[in-house]
Amino acid sequence: MTSTKTNVFTDPRNGGRAVVTGATSGIGRAYAIALARLGYRLLVTGRRHSLLEAVAEEVRQAGAPTVDARVIELSDTSVVDALCSELARAADTEYLVNNAGFATGKPFFEDPNGNDRMNTVHIDVPMRLMYATVPGMERRGHGCVVNVASLAAYLAVPYASTYVASKAYLIALTECVSLEVDPSIVRIQALAPGYVHTDFHRDGLIPDRERRSRGLIRWSSPEAVVKHSLRCLEKNQVLSVPGALNRILLGVSRITPRSVLYATASRRLRRRYRP
Ligand SMILES: NC(=O)c1ccc[n+]([C@@H]2O[C@H](COP(=O)([O-])OP(=O)(O)OC[C@H]3O[C@@H](n4cnc5c(N)ncnc54)[C@H](OP(=O)(O)O)[C@@H]3O)[C@@H](O)[C@H]2O)c1
Repeated sequence: MTSTKTNVFTDPRNGGRAVVTGATSGIGRAYAIALARLGYRLLVTGRRHSLLEAVAEEVRQAGAPTVDARVIELSDTSVVDALCSELARAADTEYLVNNAGFATGKPFFEDPNGNDRMNTVHIDVPMRLMYATVPGMERRGHGCVVNVASLAAYLAVPYASTYVASKAYLIALTECVSLEVDPSIVRIQALAPGYVHTDFHRDGLIPDRERRSRGLIRWSSPEAVVKHSLRCLEKNQVLSVPGALNRILLGVSRITPRSVLYATASRRLRRRYRP
């Protein structure tokens, strides 16, 4: 099914390719399907082979002219080297979604290797994929980059130190780089969702019973997140925070004294890990 709606900026031009990392589930899967509907050729990555095959089929059904599904461990530098060389040579990427990410819920001092791996996947890989694709976008005269960060980047969260820090880095990087490109040619976005129903919280990271909207805390769908991201790119908004209540939370977090944030935002998490 192809889209009947024409978007001025986010539609593909000249048969461009979209690259979505971490497309086996959640936001990446929803983004790949949305871009297929817009008519992009797709390159999707993930590690869970059977899910990746299923998403490739969904993307084909959604209208992508071609689908290239790659099983890639993004913390493997040599594999990422090869992918970046290939993308730079082809210079046909028009849409890049740096989406792959994970959390561990482990104490900072107990997981040095995990922290390194997270920085690689959340920071190094997005940077390297941007180096590999943005010059080609500039030559083609059109391109979009979405770096999927998190609203958590604005908070202080125990047992998520590298997660919060890497996402804050990604937001700052994206905002600065967006000022170095011509937005009539390339638009770069930091997408900072709040809680989203995906596979991210599997393995008990957030218990099932707590995965529901209450008070100011809202859970959204991956599709709603993607819709907001696309709308923000059309409006050339560099920071995309889906959900009105999440934007209020962001505003509140910016004016709340850090000492109050430390005391309140982390209390529940501390209780969970150190009952
Ligand atoms: N869900 C939320 O509440 C939430 C909130 C804010 C931000 N985010 C961000 O949104 C992004 C997408 O997450 P999601 O919520 O959609 O979770 P998800 O359903 O778990 O999807 C994460 C994707 O990233 C891939 N991935 C993770 N680590 C990888 C690695 N080392 N190498 C290769 N691929 C890897 C996964 O691949 P495999 O599973 O196939 O290995 C999967 O496709 C992440 O960057 C996350 O930080 C999520």
